[in-house]
Amino acid sequence: MPLKSRITGTGSYVPEKVLDNFDLEKKVDTSDEWIIERTGIRERRIAESAETTSDLSLEASKKALQAAGVKPKEIDLIIVATMTGDMPMPSTASILQRKLGAKNAGAFDLNAACSGFLYGLSVADNFVKAGTFKKILLVGAEVMSKFIDWKDRTTCVLFGDGAGAVVLEATSGKRGILSTHIYSDGNLWDFICLPGGGSEHPPSLKTIKNRMHFVKMKGNETFKVAVRTLEKLVINTLKVNNVKPSELAMLIPHQANLRIISATAKRLKLSMSRVAINLDRYGNTSSASIPIALDEVVRDGRIRNGEYILLEAFGSGLTWASALIKW
Ligand code: COA
Repeated sequence: MPLKSRITGTGSYVPEKVLDNFDLEKKVDTSDEWIIERTGIRERRIAESAETTSDLSLEASKKALQAAGVKPKEIDLIIVATMTGDMPMPSTASILQRKLGAKNAGAFDLNAACSGFLYGLSVADNFVKAGTFKKILLVGAEVMSKFIDWKDRTTCVLFGDGAGAVVLEATSGKRGILSTHIYSDGNLWDFICLPGGGSEHPPSLKTIKNRMHFVKMKGNETFKVAVRTLEKLVINTLKVNNVKPSELAMLIPHQANLRIISATAKRLKLSMSRVAINLDRYGNTSSASIPIALDEVVRDGRIRNGEYILLEAFGSGLTWASALIKW
């Protein structure tokens, strides 16, 4: 049997502080009713001012390592999928490596925005399949709340903070990651972006004054592309693997909007009871949403060995990605 990668442990962590829709009504011109109807979000978690992306990653990683029965020093590589790292350099993965004491691991960050975890899964899976690494720690973690314009009601109601982690190990069995798929359309880069702070617009008084260090999104335009793209993506991912939608045990989607998720589930003729949902409690946690949702369904015993689970995401880039796993 050729080498495969298999997820042998999952973990997640969200900050304690809860911000619900009623709290947001006091900050911007919005309502609990609008937010629930348009997004499905009821509340989200917000990191403390001293809490960083690597702190959240650390908590999620410790749980994933414990679940896998793997010690930090056994890890060959750490990938952190994030767009809200502790600092532009070093990578949050390097900071996490130090905090974990994973002294034998290489470390780097990967930025594919909300698709980051599945991009990371694709990279990690291919490292394992090539025989380069045997044990990889993959984290999706974001502190979105520090990059959101709390005066902009079109974005501030959507996002939340959190982290999810998985341990991938080499296996030659039938269970594991069957395929991963990554795509991008850079023509639509300005649908979701954070324009300030990079080499195009380095930090300056002007970038601060123009609120360029915050996420901007053309929500409605993004929504339409997301629905269209994800419907095609999930069907193609199953087709490549000769798996019928009726054989799927669980869909684990990126948690941006309940209406997008429902449209994807409908295309698969999948009942919502077989779809992992956490955006009601955590909002859109970007690259963390899928590994948090995966950890929840694993710990709740909602997926069993040998079942097919489909993961899909869509985000800034634009980027989109999927993976089919035989659990
Ligand atoms: N509270 C109240 N009203 C709001 C609001 C808020 N928080 N945010 C926007 N509105 C208003 C708008 O100003 C607009 O008012 P108008 O009709 O008077 O102009 C109206 O609500 C409708 O806005 P629209 O943007 O068309 O709403 P929508 O149904 O598209 O929902 C999103 C907005 C952002 C929830 C939705 O478009 C979405 O989820 N987009 C995709 C996000 C995504 O997938 N991103 C990729 C991953 S990050």
